[in-house]
Amino acid sequence: KQGKRVYELAKELGLKSQNLMDIMQELGIPAKSTLSVVDAESASLISDYVNELKHKAKEQKEELESIPDNITLVEFCAHFGVPIEEVREKIMKFGLPYKPSYRYSRQEVHYLAQELGLKVPPFLDEEFKKRFVKRAPVVTVMGHVDHGKTTLLDTIRKTNVAAREKGQITQAIGASTVRIHGEDIIFIDTPGHEAFTEMRLRGSLVTDIVILVVAADEGVKEQTIESLNHAKAARVPIIVAVNKVDKPGADPEMVKHQLADRGLLPEEWGGQTVYVLVSAKTGQGIQDLLEIIRLQADLLDLKTNPNTIASGTVIESKIDKNVGPLATVIVQTGTLKVGTYLRAGNTVGKIRFLKDTFGKNVSLSPAVSAVEIAGLEEIPEAGEIFYELSGIEEMREEKEKIEEAKKKAKEEGRVPKTLEDLLKEM
Ligand code: GTP
Ligand code: MG
Repeated sequence: KQGKRVYELAKELGLKSQNLMDIMQELGIPAKSTLSVVDAESASLISDYVNELKHKAKEQKEELESIPDNITLVEFCAHFGVPIEEVREKIMKFGLPYKPSYRYSRQEVHYLAQELGLKVPPFLDEEFKKRFVKRAPVVTVMGHVDHGKTTLLDTIRKTNVAAREKGQITQAIGASTVRIHGEDIIFIDTPGHEAFTEMRLRGSLVTDIVILVVAADEGVKEQTIESLNHAKAARVPIIVAVNKVDKPGADPEMVKHQLADRGLLPEEWGGQTVYVLVSAKTGQGIQDLLEIIRLQADLLDLKTNPNTIASGTVIESKIDKNVGPLATVIVQTGTLKVGTYLRAGNTVGKIRFLKDTFGKNVSLSPAVSAVEIAGLEEIPEAGEIFYELSGIEEMREEKEKIEEAKKKAKEEGRVPKTLEDLLKEM
């Protein structure tokens, strides 16, 4: 049999000559020019390979096209057969906005499915991925009452909150931002008192990393275990801060033994958990702790998209007698701006001002950040999700929906508590 010239073979296979030459190079059958002659044996080898490539590409295209486009979160969950609660908890952590009426593009659906570990072809759209930028980690400090959570944060922030608290007991969760070597870490302080289970739970929902504070003199206590269970349920990495090591009765080894029995085997014993010995009082070990947080955050490769619809989680809320309802939120996707229309839990509003966690007025707050907002009509419940609305029109619609749901609930003798309850009724 006669050989063929490269350009002839390319034409037969429906390829450009240059592409065929690249493929030949890959196969170890290099050609000098498009006029070079390929012997019959090589030609058949090359066509088999090209046909295989085409087949694979076609399969992949079909697979990608089977991923739905332009669907809501409810539709996503129905399509992939995953519970909505699970996705709702995680979606904003991956940097995709949460909004019931939002329609996710095929790329977003593909990305979300992959992040959730669902069976989909590999994600290849590099241009789309570039929208997601490195984000600050949200770190929640949990542990038994009086074990030194607030003092630890005070030492990190160089503030003095613990001393100002009533009876020195934290009664609400609070968010603060700490900038270390030019990178932000968002800390959430939670109360350790047994009465505040709800708050510890809520703190664990938005978090990327949990710092479990255990006083070295007292060791593991009831709310240490409870906090540990919340952290485990949230499936986030746990760093143990063994605090109060400055105290005469401090026994860090005891803490390690107690927690090793509960699944937190220390690294130095062949386990996975990092224990950092600290004193919130003297500052000992604090730099190490910050370093470990940074390392852990880098490992998690946290990303978000600041240029999409703003959404996030309400951390706490209160009524200020001068400005009205105030809410501290974690912006998890998009960017909050003065003037943004929002729904937060069972209320709506337009942002009048934003204050960062240092109390400074800011005009915008991009994901991921903690910020205080004024302008909501009522106070949203802590733990609720908020999301951006397109304008005054959508705000009116949302308000109507909330009113209707409330009315309906009242008629049926129920009080709707959460956004989810309301959504179910819509
Ligand atoms: P709750 O928020 O109520 O759960 O308490 P907390 O865990 O925030 O404890 P907090 O920071 O309020 O500290 C409780 C007490 O322990 C305070 O009197 C602190 O001064 C003291 N304390 C905290 N850390 C240390 C430490 O490292 N060494 C010593 N000696 N005392 C500490
Ligand atoms: Mg406290």
